[in-house]
Amino acid sequence: MKALIVYHSKFGNTEKIARAIGEAMTPLGEVKVVKVGDANPSELSSIDFLIVGSPTHGGGATRAIKEFLRKIPANALENVRVASFDTRFSAKDKGLGARIVLGIFRYAAGRIANRLETKGGYLTTEPEGFIVEDSEGPLKKGELERAAIWAKGIPESKR
Ligand SMILES: Cc1cc2nc3c(=O)[nH]c(=O)nc-3n(C[C@H](O)[C@H](O)[C@H](O)COP(=O)(O)O)c2cc1C
Repeated sequence: MKALIVYHSKFGNTEKIARAIGEAMTPLGEVKVVKVGDANPSELSSIDFLIVGSPTHGGGATRAIKEFLRKIPANALENVRVASFDTRFSAKDKGLGARIVLGIFRYAAGRIANRLETKGGYLTTEPEGFIVEDSEGPLKKGELERAAIWAKGIPESKR
């Protein structure tokens, strides 16, 4: 099993989640965790799993992640199982105004999953969000452990 985890992280929280996912998947095979700027679309032909993670910015992925997704050639993911995650605010910890805004804009992970599927990827599990307490973090307590549990479900998933 070969897995590539591509992430973007402005303040380091998404990177921590990406590394926790990488560690959780390591017993299953060869896992590479790479910053989006260092990801090479030519690697996609030799992997079994592609996992993409982004901070949520304005309800979607960051520009760097969008650019990476755009550069993936059509159908390049036909034999690749894909999953996506983001980091985000928790709507339930916010006031009504913020809850409405977050509800309208939504989050990055679902949008990334859609893009991966349009490139031929087979989505193995539901897109997942991990909670930060503020823009710069920290991650909410328990999120790294939750990321590890989510990661273990990726290769097992029947979807
Ligand atoms: C410009 C900007 C826009 C953001 N927009 C959203 C948003 O729409 N929804 C949300 O839940 N969080 C939003 N956030 C908070 C980010 O989710 C948070 O900064 C991110 O999870 C931190 O991840 P990082 O440490 O990997 O950069 C925003 C943060 C920034 C800096």
